[in-house]
Amino acid sequence: MNDLIKQHRDDGVLTLTFNRPDKLNALNNAMYLQLANLLQSADEDAGVGVIILTGGDLCFTSGNDLVDFLEHPPTELCSPAFQLMHVVIHLKKPLIAVVCGPAIGIGTTLLMHCDQVLVTQNAKLRMPFVNLALCPEFGASLLLPRLIGHARAARLLLWGDSLNGAAAVVCGLANEVFDDGTQCLAAARHLALRLLAMPQESLRLTRQLLKQPLMAELQATIRRENLMFIDRLKSQEAQTALKAIISRSYENSTSRGAQS
Ligand code: COA
Repeated sequence: MNDLIKQHRDDGVLTLTFNRPDKLNALNNAMYLQLANLLQSADEDAGVGVIILTGGDLCFTSGNDLVDFLEHPPTELCSPAFQLMHVVIHLKKPLIAVVCGPAIGIGTTLLMHCDQVLVTQNAKLRMPFVNLALCPEFGASLLLPRLIGHARAARLLLWGDSLNGAAAVVCGLANEVFDDGTQCLAAARHLALRLLAMPQESLRLTRQLLKQPLMAELQATIRRENLMFIDRLKSQEAQTALKAIISRSYENSTSRGAQS
């Protein structure tokens, strides 16, 4: 089986790349667990100083696998997605995101937990939670308004509007925009190497200081959001919305399942 997350290690920089191109890097339960394990190992590995997370040149991620949402939904606060986000939130090493193309749903939520977010012009950040009869998750309802202000956060979370790369930088959800993925990845690597040259204990403590003031509120918000999210997923509204958006793939996958 192909690795769902590719890894490349160079000079203390670990680059992790979502690798499910046929589904635009939709995150299924196996990917969440694989990424959680890789990040956890990297965090404990003295040879890794900085982690870059990307989806490659075409797409960061199309978000949670919609078929998984229907067939293997999270039922409690230790779901694979939850395990991944727990590791991300408590990561001791700096995390830099490189975003080309769509970053949908949890793909955008993840960015709010990164130390730097570099995007290409064609990036498309979108959280269509309400459109799918769901609600924000993993701290988006707390972090997004703090990052970009209530009115802009409302446009993304209530209306489900999207931001391209330049707009994401203007409103503060991303740091820098580049013409293409190669430039974006090179810039991320440059930032990573600058951090590797810093006094590492001071870097670790400063990251901790930056995150600490919000941690208790973040954890409480995540718990509240995700219980609501699990409940929403079971609702008729969400089931109808999800089936509508994936009807073609869903029908194909269930008929394949029925035949086996
Ligand atoms: N889960 C599962 N499969 C997905 C997926 C997802 N989140 N997003 C895309 N795919 C699959 C499609 O079913 C399709 O598979 P198929 O070729 O076997 O039919 C393939 O990926 C390509 O997707 P497609 O929709 O044809 O690509 P596009 O370029 O026209 O559109 C998107 C790209 C990202 C705009 C569109 O795929 C989309 O809106 N996806 C759903 C995003 C979403 O709602 N995520 C959850 C948020 S909570």
